[in-house]
Amino acid sequence: MPKIVIAIDGYSSCGKSTTAKQVAARMGYAYIDTGAMYRSVSLYFIQNHVALTNPKAVQDALQLIQITFNFNPRNGRNETCLNGLNVEEEIRKMYISNIVSEVSAIPEVRYAMVAQQQKLGRRRGVVMDGRDIGTKVFPDAELKIFMTADATIRAQRRQIELLQKGEMVGLDVILENLKKRDFIDSNRSEGPLRKAEDAIELDTSFITIDEQIDWVIQLADEKISNL
Ligand code: DC
Repeated sequence: MPKIVIAIDGYSSCGKSTTAKQVAARMGYAYIDTGAMYRSVSLYFIQNHVALTNPKAVQDALQLIQITFNFNPRNGRNETCLNGLNVEEEIRKMYISNIVSEVSAIPEVRYAMVAQQQKLGRRRGVVMDGRDIGTKVFPDAELKIFMTADATIRAQRRQIELLQKGEMVGLDVILENLKKRDFIDSNRSEGPLRKAEDAIELDTSFITIDEQIDWVIQLADEKISNL
């Protein structure tokens, strides 16, 4: 059976990664969380005091960053590794969410990450979620989904996620962070968050994760059978 690229783009906390992860598992595809890559770069920049406004420092730092995804059979989870160290938990924290949009707006950072993402998906059979997958990373993706959801609902979902990981953050703080990220992500010069012309839009405000997953799989099956 031919393998396709499924690109899932959209605003922060619409359920993109939860959906993408499950769709990949059910289809036997690889899942690539591109947000985790930008989060890992942000963590490296913080840890190594890289000045975001210094292009040379940014370029030099990028040469020293290696991001990999490891499947952990003990908990059945994908773990993001930065230079061999598992950073999965650290990169989800609020202090990373607070700078990741600034970091991911730096063109040099985007060039480096997009090149890696294209390499990871070159054999197809991947589900990739992010902001510019359907427009920039894989403009030829066979299936493109653009997810949206009401901002308050997104903030509530994010708050629950953070709480489950032991981080207590006020709804207003999360909402402000989401809105700020959406703004920066949508207005940067390189690879802005935008719905690809041929993407199918899905508002996830009032549907369950299972419904989102079934919907994407049905669309993927249709695409594959029409190839
Ligand atoms: O999906 P996420 O919330 O973990 O992504 C974190 C940030 O990374 C997001 O605010 C914007 C950036 N990002 C990006 O610019 N391009 C992508 N393809 C994925 C994420």
